[in-house]
Amino acid sequence: MSKYSIAVIPGDGIGPEVVSATMPALDKLAQKYNIEFDFTDYPFGGDHYIATGEVLSDESMVALKKHDAIYLGAVGSPKVKPGILEKGILLKLRFEFDQYINLRPVKLYPGVETPIKGKTAEDLDYVVVRENTGGLYTGVGGGTMVGTTSEAVSQSMVYTYTQVERCLRFAFEVAKGRDRKKLCMIGKTNVLTHVFGLWERVYDQLKEEYPMVEASYMHVDAACMHMVTNPAQFDVMVTTNMFGDIITDLGAVTQGGMGMAASANINPEKLTPSMFEPVHGSAPDIAGQNKANPLATFMSAKMMLDFLGEKEAAADLDAAICAVSEAGFEGLGTDAIGQLVTDKL
Ligand code: IPM
Ligand code: MN
Repeated sequence: MSKYSIAVIPGDGIGPEVVSATMPALDKLAQKYNIEFDFTDYPFGGDHYIATGEVLSDESMVALKKHDAIYLGAVGSPKVKPGILEKGILLKLRFEFDQYINLRPVKLYPGVETPIKGKTAEDLDYVVVRENTGGLYTGVGGGTMVGTTSEAVSQSMVYTYTQVERCLRFAFEVAKGRDRKKLCMIGKTNVLTHVFGLWERVYDQLKEEYPMVEASYMHVDAACMHMVTNPAQFDVMVTTNMFGDIITDLGAVTQGGMGMAASANINPEKLTPSMFEPVHGSAPDIAGQNKANPLATFMSAKMMLDFLGEKEAAADLDAAICAVSEAGFEGLGTDAIGQLVTDKL
């Protein structure tokens, strides 16, 4: 029997509902595949912050570090100033646990409609490798004379060679392991010449090391267009933190909406826990109404099983998600969709 200790952070808004909708399925998979999940719930999020003043303390980080993985619903509350929870929880976890890769598959599941006219599942099956600890997210910058008409502010895009190299290498490895073995680096070499000069040089080095990978480069603006007009050309896309954030919302819409987009924040060396979460946010407007689609969370759970090495359980869960999406889940609530997935296992 394999045993995993999982920290569960349901978080804000629809986070708790989508996470709890997936729990019976995880219990069933545990029985079926002789796995023991030891789940520990953590209360971090807007309400916990308001009640206790804690966003995510260093002592809590020590506790979280002991787990094999973190399973997260969503973070962000209209009751808290933007940035406090996002930076204090999500980004803190990504940075301090050095989850330097954010894997975001863009895949059209059976029965799901894409808003792109005429495109099918054959056109949409790629993965975005988003660099997850650097770039504009580093937080380097500041302001002066704030609140006056002389106010001057800056926010810098900072990358080290190491951050770029390990991210691109990971992406080349992912491409090497896929059928089509294609990689497209997304950047802005024509304007952001310092940062993308570095990305391009490392990319050129790695291209030599990975002759089996068909590598190409595209500017981010053109990439947005191609993700809509010709997504079939993509297999692995790799890019910076900020560009990856933006293009994966576009990717999510093409795969049927935010309710269908999963992500894995990973530390490939497994030195620290990796974190699995749907791409969508807390959606406070529909929170507590049993309206949210939990499939993105199920897909994130599938990525977690994969990462833990439970390949059979992951494949089983993915097949169940496919069966549910194929049969259609229009008009069904969060719990009902969760039940359908559990029943298919
Ligand atoms: C995401 C989110 C986060 C990000 C926010 C909530 C900090 O948009 O995971 O894509 O920008 O990375
Ligand atoms: Mn985002």
